Amino acid sequence: MSFQPQYMSGREIREQFLQFFEKRGHQRLPSASLVPEDPTVLLTIAGMLPFKPIFLGQKERDYPRATTSQKCIRTNDIENVGRTARHHTFFEMLGNFSFGDYFKKEAIAWGWELMTQVYGLPPERLIVSVYKDDDDAFDIWHQDIGIAKHRIQRMGEDDNFWKSGPTGPCGPCSEIYYDFHPEKGDTNIDLEDDSRFIELFNLVFMQYNRDSDGNLTPLQNKNIDTGMGLERMAQVLQSVPNNYETDLIFPIIKTAAEIAGIDYSQSDDKTKVSLKVIGDHVRAVVHTIADGVSASNIGRGYVVRRLIRRVVRHGRLVGIDGAFINQVAETAMQLSEAVYPNVRDRESFIKAELEREETQFLKTLERGEKLLAEILEAKPKQISGEDAFTLYDTYGFPLELTQEIAEENGIGVDVAAFEAEMEKQRERARAAHETIDLTVQGSLDKLAEHIHATAFLGYTDVQSTAKIEALLVDGKIVESAEAGSEVQVVLDRTPFYAESGGQIGDRGYLSGDNVVVRIDDVKKENDIFVHFGRVERGTLNSGEAIAAKIDRACRRRAQANHSATHLLQAALKQIIDDGVSQAGSLVAFDRLRFDFNCPRALTPDEVQQVEDLVNTWIAEAHSAQVAEMPLEDAKAKGAVAMFGEKYADVVRVIDFPGVSMELCGGTHVHNTAEIGAFKIISESGISSGVRRIEAVSGPAVLDYLNLRDRVVKDLCDRFKVKPEEVSDRITSLQEELKATQKELNAVKAELAVAKSDSLVSEAESVGEFKVLVANLGTADAKSLQTAAERLQQKLGEAAVVLGAIPSVGKVSLVAAFSKGVNQKGLQAGKFIGGIAKLCGGGGGGRPNLAQAGGRDASKLPEALEAAKQQLADGLK
Ligand code: SER
Repeated sequence: MSFQPQYMSGREIREQFLQFFEKRGHQRLPSASLVPEDPTVLLTIAGMLPFKPIFLGQKERDYPRATTSQKCIRTNDIENVGRTARHHTFFEMLGNFSFGDYFKKEAIAWGWELMTQVYGLPPERLIVSVYKDDDDAFDIWHQDIGIAKHRIQRMGEDDNFWKSGPTGPCGPCSEIYYDFHPEKGDTNIDLEDDSRFIELFNLVFMQYNRDSDGNLTPLQNKNIDTGMGLERMAQVLQSVPNNYETDLIFPIIKTAAEIAGIDYSQSDDKTKVSLKVIGDHVRAVVHTIADGVSASNIGRGYVVRRLIRRVVRHGRLVGIDGAFINQVAETAMQLSEAVYPNVRDRESFIKAELEREETQFLKTLERGEKLLAEILEAKPKQISGEDAFTLYDTYGFPLELTQEIAEENGIGVDVAAFEAEMEKQRERARAAHETIDLTVQGSLDKLAEHIHATAFLGYTDVQSTAKIEALLVDGKIVESAEAGSEVQVVLDRTPFYAESGGQIGDRGYLSGDNVVVRIDDVKKENDIFVHFGRVERGTLNSGEAIAAKIDRACRRRAQANHSATHLLQAALKQIIDDGVSQAGSLVAFDRLRFDFNCPRALTPDEVQQVEDLVNTWIAEAHSAQVAEMPLEDAKAKGAVAMFGEKYADVVRVIDFPGVSMELCGGTHVHNTAEIGAFKIISESGISSGVRRIEAVSGPAVLDYLNLRDRVVKDLCDRFKVKPEEVSDRITSLQEELKATQKELNAVKAELAVAKSDSLVSEAESVGEFKVLVANLGTADAKSLQTAAERLQQKLGEAAVVLGAIPSVGKVSLVAAFSKGVNQKGLQAGKFIGGIAKLCGGGGGGRPNLAQAGGRDASKLPEALEAAKQQLADGLK
């Protein structure tokens, strides 16, 4: 029974798989981006995800069969990474897909042939499972393939019914497992025992759609979706004890170990886990950033941030002190660049992003260390679960690290309370995940069943006749709508552009015999265009023929802004960095907004250069060339595509030759000269690593300049100066104001002090002490302090508390206590802090003199009254 698999490199395993299915009529397709088009998931979680619309019948298939090696990320089991032999965040899933073409028989036969003939695994090492009542699959395995009945396990819903999420395509599946220990015999097969079995290949018979109530409806077609984990197959064929020690990941681990100055093979289990986490996560972040995601605190950006932080933390656990992530990332890039060239194309970005996050996080860790030192200074009996959790969650301290440091100080950590906090956080995460899943299908989906895609004429025409295919009021289909109704209209064809690619929908009118409808917005879903508007006059009837006409002035503005956005991107690439890439955009009638990945702010000089370059291109009058072509051709020509965006196989390319070439479905000027002018209004950061430029072009530039001009004219009128003198005038006014403020403060202080002298007589006696509590009106904090000190000196053994409202909504308080008062146990600092709390603030200071502030001025009388009472009680 002893068997040694024939070694195969990860690259070879991938290639053999794809070739095998190519030879069997499958179209080999590149991996889709890790950023999915599907809104129900944050990241691509399975090879089938890019094909979901085809399975659901929402999109035509381009090929009946396909095969891919898909980059995937799953983070639901992140805590298990490195601890088990096969949990990953990033992994590659090899798959073969049938879109209503072949089904179980072929999928099973080819799956078996691949395992035994291509990868050379002996049948006695393979066990299969089927869904509990899938007799068809059982019979194919038994009769066609010849597997003994007892080696075909029937499994339940949890194991052998695959679904991509709570809703969506799903179906029974059949899995092929590898047996590491066939010597244990056939009688006690437990496929859950992962020390003996590993699932290698999952064949899903995708034939149902599941709705949000859990109901299954058969899909139009019976499909096949299979998934084979590349790393798992590598573990088996490279005879290593886990996925991490395969040639796909181990070189990264080795780099990390070298930096730490340790030897992986000699390390204890804990160190090995940390090195494996580094190996896994570094691949994940390199690919996710390459696909356009930047670290942030939300969504997929948070996944990236969390993974980077875990790498840094585990680096420290294995003894690496400073920055190291880019050294390991370099190894990860070397491992994948041949198959995924975008990691090299994006190298400078990936590295800048990693460096920035790592540096920031190292600083956070330092702050955490300080916090921990403070916690320990208070000499607690143990570190509370809450503190340990804050250290973990906010400062990135793994529990083990906190435990270690606690142990060095002779105390423990309340682990149970820590776990309880962790569980609370998991629940929060689960709740957040569910909200994502609920955003799935727009209400327009319902229409898709009855109506054909709308023909879009707007690239060439600004008006056309059209037929009303559907008319809706309040989201319900109606036959007619009267004047005054807000309507949604679906036409068979339209010149109106529907919001997409950042460009907003056209405005305009629909008109027929005695009816006029004003259209304010157009959106589309599944290529059905919905015109949102209001019946201005007459009655609109479903089925009737109307004339559809867009507002040409609005369209011209949108065109200018859209083409200007393309020029802006080209200028940023030329002036800032070729790696600058689009992260989002808005093309409206009055302005444009362009978000892009860039790890730093632009200097004012760079912003000016970018603006100048765009205006140069406008003046040079470049004509647009618009063409449709296969995606691959467009990419080969160097057309810019947006990272993470999924494109159809035939794409539209907007080319201003020599200046900018982009994939885009939007509407554009015919020549850059039509844009007229371009002006950047602002450049700012919107999240870490993502910058935003807001700008105007075309007629909007004049609108903007007119607005600015009015502001300047108004200032000139008010200051009675010329425009070029405004700035000097403001500077001198500011200086004057400062000097006046200074004088005013001095006068206020004098006044307060003078007024305070008269207060001596208002002091009351409490026991052997004098107590004086008074409101000094609008005196500032400094005057208040001078007055309090003087009064206390004059009164001898005394407690003086003064309050004032120096500016709107601001409270100032001060307490001056003599030695005797302190001996009675009253400290000025603590005392005034308590009083300030009553005014929504706080503060403190020394026992004899202390200041505090608050924000709720209305509470000052009450607070002073309380001070009086407390002093009377305390000094009795
Ligand atoms: N979709 C299935 C899985 O992810 C098979 O590809 O396991």
